Amino acid sequence: MKGMGYMAKRMIETSFTQEDMKIEGSLRPKCLKDYIGQTKVKDNLKIYIEAAKLRKDALDHVLFYGPPGLGKTTLAGIIAAEMGVNMKVTSGPAIEKPGEIAAILNNLQEGDLLFVDEIHRLNRQVEEVLYPAMEDYCIDIMIGKGASARSIRLELPKFTLVGATTRAGLLTAPLRDRFGVIHRLEFYSVEELKLIIQHSARILGVEIEEKGAVELAKRSRGTPRLANRMLKRVRDFAQIKYDGVITEMVAKTALDLMEVDRMGLDHVDRNILITIIDKFKGGPVGLDTLAAAIGEDAGTLEDVYEPYLLKNGFLNRTPKGRVAADLAYHHLGLEIPS
Ligand SMILES: Nc1ncnc2c1ncn2[C@@H]1O[C@H](COP(=O)(O)OP(=O)(O)OP(=O)(O)O)[C@@H](O)[C@H]1O
Ligand SMILES: [Mg+2]
Repeated sequence: MKGMGYMAKRMIETSFTQEDMKIEGSLRPKCLKDYIGQTKVKDNLKIYIEAAKLRKDALDHVLFYGPPGLGKTTLAGIIAAEMGVNMKVTSGPAIEKPGEIAAILNNLQEGDLLFVDEIHRLNRQVEEVLYPAMEDYCIDIMIGKGASARSIRLELPKFTLVGATTRAGLLTAPLRDRFGVIHRLEFYSVEELKLIIQHSARILGVEIEEKGAVELAKRSRGTPRLANRMLKRVRDFAQIKYDGVITEMVAKTALDLMEVDRMGLDHVDRNILITIIDKFKGGPVGLDTLAAAIGEDAGTLEDVYEPYLLKNGFLNRTPKGRVAADLAYHHLGLEIPS
């Protein structure tokens, strides 16, 4: 994800950072049973996976969308493991030419899962190779040049494409239509995040009290990646300043120092709300205007930063633009204008 400006450096940056690399591999659940939350998605997938296995067939193509860090990549890996197939990984921006995607497809084995991250960033010509591949498991390739050029049809093994995107709105209709299964990942509840944190703590060998886990869960804005990252930071804090155990008090103190407040908002979220309230009299303010005022790309603001504020009632979306909700004033300790 292209985080811009100072937003990219926020503690609660939900997209993948260098820091996550070391821990994500070991913390990633490997099977559906260990994947916490997203019940609807899980229940559906379970049925599709079982049915495909019974038919000894490849699973239908699957699209996951939703804000960063909610578990799209993790789910793709789980599907491959549950189906007992290999997963090949690529991403929209990594494939530049039609020939490259043709080569990837041509190298797949029967049943393989091809994971395409950031699928909204595939270019048009590459996408066009995918259409017949997804629909009829074949590709048309051009052989030769000039007058002697001809197109031959190449059969592909049956495979499953799993696409992931944080920006579903940018997907073209023909591509979207070729996915049999489309799931939006939702923010996690505090209870679910608590379980994820406790599970990660066990793997990392960190002692955490239940109330400490709840405090972390409350402040990780519904996002497992953030929950894990905060756990790691708070663990360091607990080791240096206390006796290593993450209690409620340790969690609170550490998170306060990191300027993540009790609702999981950081200085960027507060800046978004304060900007609407101060510069635009509480709104409505158009998305582009707001984005310019805070120095962020409009699409990123809409798909990555806003969802949490909207879901938790800090922000409302109206036909005329964004409006700061009463809760925003309340949370910031400001008076609601009459
Ligand atoms: N349901 C879950 N249960 C436990 N841990 C989870 C779950 N979902 C995600 N995680 C943890 O959060 C981390 C981030 O998840 P993942 O990389 O799958 O997110 P993503 O949606 O692919 O993000 P991005 O949009 O940035 O690619 C994983 O390493 C994993 O440890
Ligand atoms: Mg991912």
